[in-house]
Amino acid sequence: MKFLIINGPNLNLLGKREPGIYGEENYESLCARLKAYAAAHGSTAECFQSNHEGAIIDAIHAADGAYDAIIMNPGAYTHYSIAILDALKAVSVPCIEVHISNVHQREEFRHKSVTAPACVGQICGLGLYGYEAAMGYFLGKQ
Ligand code: DQA
Repeated sequence: MKFLIINGPNLNLLGKREPGIYGEENYESLCARLKAYAAAHGSTAECFQSNHEGAIIDAIHAADGAYDAIIMNPGAYTHYSIAILDALKAVSVPCIEVHISNVHQREEFRHKSVTAPACVGQICGLGLYGYEAAMGYFLGKQ
């Protein structure tokens, strides 16, 4: 399978950013790990990160027909980006939403995802493993 891993705002600062919540592993290490996981399962994973809503929307549009599945952590856009919700609805490539932290144990504004309704499902609170769990789900569906 061809996976596109999309990470939204501030996730480029993994490892440095609130390590008590998001862990000590950095973004480059996460990407290397996901590429290795994909390769071990006869698949490929491309990693894309942006702090800009429009760039994420462009990446979702470009993924249509080019990738088999999207694994996306929209960061804070999760909670208010109707534009990302609409982009997911506009394409036929399936997406699983991932959150590193358990958003339900955090501030109330993080409990609501506006983007999850356009996703196959949502994984949260499993740390970086959540991205692999999402890939594993799609691999098992083949
Ligand atoms: C996050 C949770 C969001 O509420 C937050 O804005 C993030 C990261 C997570 O992975 O736990 O940037 O998506």
